Amino acid sequence: MSDTDGLLKIDKLHKRFRLSSDGWFGAKGQVVNAINDVSLEITKGESFCLVGESGCGKSTLARTVMGLETTSAGSIHYMGERIDNMSDAARLPYRQRMQMIFQNPYASLNPRMTISQTLEEPLRFHRPDLSDTQVRDKVVEVMESVGNNTSWLSRFPHEFSGGQRQRISIARALMVDPEFVVADEPISALDVSIQAQVLNVMMDARDHRDLTYLFITHDLSVVEHFGTRVAVMYLGVVCELAETKTLFASPRHPYTQLLLSAIPKMDGSEMTHDRMHGEVPSAMNLPTGCVFHGRCPHAKDVCKTDIPTLRQVAGRQVACHFAEDTG
Ligand SMILES: Nc1ncnc2c1ncn2[C@@H]1O[C@H](COP(=O)(O)OP(=O)(O)OP(=O)(O)O)[C@@H](O)[C@H]1O
Ligand SMILES: [Mg+2]
Repeated sequence: MSDTDGLLKIDKLHKRFRLSSDGWFGAKGQVVNAINDVSLEITKGESFCLVGESGCGKSTLARTVMGLETTSAGSIHYMGERIDNMSDAARLPYRQRMQMIFQNPYASLNPRMTISQTLEEPLRFHRPDLSDTQVRDKVVEVMESVGNNTSWLSRFPHEFSGGQRQRISIARALMVDPEFVVADEPISALDVSIQAQVLNVMMDARDHRDLTYLFITHDLSVVEHFGTRVAVMYLGVVCELAETKTLFASPRHPYTQLLLSAIPKMDGSEMTHDRMHGEVPSAMNLPTGCVFHGRCPHAKDVCKTDIPTLRQVAGRQVACHFAEDTG
């Protein structure tokens, strides 16, 4: 990757939440280690997927990249500029260039605003130089580009289904011509029957608008369909990072292998799938050594004491002491 291709660079990122006075279950003062030393780079034009079980830190990573959470340590650069410690004023242009789409389209649209007002708002904020006509033209152009009927514009969010609302949220994100879109489980709250349609809208936008995505999902079939590269997370750590094809063809990290084998498959006449054993340990009480050792079928003593770092093995990056032997 050349310097000019790198869009987002996350370096040694840590995010800890200190639970406050009225914390959960008397957990006052406890620390949640949500992100533990994550480094990765996203190249322009990629659809970079982030996968992993619930609680592994995917949303926290997304929110930290977007500046919705502060970092505890490490840095985030966007096109060479450090953005994680910027003032609000300096950050402002990045709030236009980087947009986020959330999981729940019922919560992310203001119920009191018409669709037209919803779409105009970010554009009027970031582009006060545009005339009313220019703003309205843009609204129509973007609505049509994502397959939304412009007759929706005078209506309110409650009049729409989940899939339609998510297409409105996508349109709103596209209003300001972003370069980079962070999508946090954008289709997982939707009916299965319309998930593909919304995914297609996003892929179309990528192809026509030169978008780069950070796409979060726990659905591996979506990754296979949509992702150019994928990072697998477990307890705040990246275990494996690879081109999508490489990861699906020959996963190397034992956790990735378990995750892939847990996809139900048609085997003869019966549906079978390998079960994932054991509980995910708590992010409040991280295991020593490799975070996955308690569930790993290959764990040896060194896995309980030494933290494996991401390293290049067999054409991808793997954080496993025995990555040479797991192929
Ligand atoms: N504001 C917060 N305060 C305290 N702990 C938090 C906060 N936000 C997240 N966490 C904790 O950080 C860890 C990572 O959470 P996160 O929401 O990033 O996971 P996730 O991978 O997005 O999960 P899911 O798939 O369920 O959305 C979890 O242990 C979670 O409980
Ligand atoms: Mg999440």
